[in-house]
Amino acid sequence: MQQGEQANQMRFDDPALWDKMAAIYEAQAQPFTAHFADAAVATLAIGPSSNVLDVATGTGAAALSAARTGARVTAIDFSAGMVQLVRAYGVANIDARQMDGQALDLPDGAFDAVMSVFGVMLFADWRAGLREMARVTRPGGSAAIAVWKSPDGAAVHLMVSRIIRTLYPDIVGQSPATGLTELADADRLAAAVIAAGFTEPTIREVSHDSILNVGDDKGADRLFEFGPQWRVLNEEQRAAVVREFAAEVERGRVGDVFRIPSTALIATARRRPS
Ligand SMILES: C[S@@+](CC[C@H](N)C(=O)[O-])C[C@H]1O[C@@H](n2cnc3c(N)ncnc32)[C@H](O)[C@@H]1O
Repeated sequence: MQQGEQANQMRFDDPALWDKMAAIYEAQAQPFTAHFADAAVATLAIGPSSNVLDVATGTGAAALSAARTGARVTAIDFSAGMVQLVRAYGVANIDARQMDGQALDLPDGAFDAVMSVFGVMLFADWRAGLREMARVTRPGGSAAIAVWKSPDGAAVHLMVSRIIRTLYPDIVGQSPATGLTELADADRLAAAVIAAGFTEPTIREVSHDSILNVGDDKGADRLFEFGPQWRVLNEEQRAAVVREFAAEVERGRVGDVFRIPSTALIATARRRPS
């Protein structure tokens, strides 16, 4: 198999990939993304009389946060596995539905507020995702869009990308989603939000540590394969990356806890009156 073919194998636009990851995402990623989801929801003026949409809800971090305000929340994701887990919470004011965020099966102007936390940036056509968010927001309604500040993402992925770049500067992986790179810049994010049909964007930086429990072997290196460069490394190079990762963890751990600081950009904007 050619290296390029290997790189192309990881497709964030394949719902089957997310179906497979749903349970591990709920256990390991959601406790981390929930901090950013709470920050995104806090930028929206929502309460019990609000209709809110969470686009690419995953295991529901932002939907759960919005539901705690009393709002009626529609949570959509194209992965049946993710939607099933959100339904399993049995939260009365969350309606979880399987749907492609690039072509929402929802009426124009139906929502007071829409949000997407680390979702729309991964869509094959992220511009269509943003346009759809604007279409279903009522004029004057609000939106919150969270993306990573680094094209490498966050947490383990951020750290492994840095290690690979340091050890093998000539190896370039193909980014699994153009939105990860395009939207990881405050000015470009603001411009994209305006182009989609929103106005008055405000961009905030929000940082939280990803916390790895290194006391029990949860196999953090299993997450490495989701990074684009990992897939173009040979066995020897992969072993060297794992060694360097373990060495950094040993140097930085406090007891069983190792922290990886990660930063998001959260864009908040209003739907332009038509
Ligand atoms: C990184 S997860 C983010 C989940 C959640 N919002 C959070 O912050 O934890 C990305 C989610 O986007 C979903 N997704 C990717 N492409 C999608 C699309 N075209 N339409 C709907 N959901 C999509 C995936 O299934 C996955 O659940």
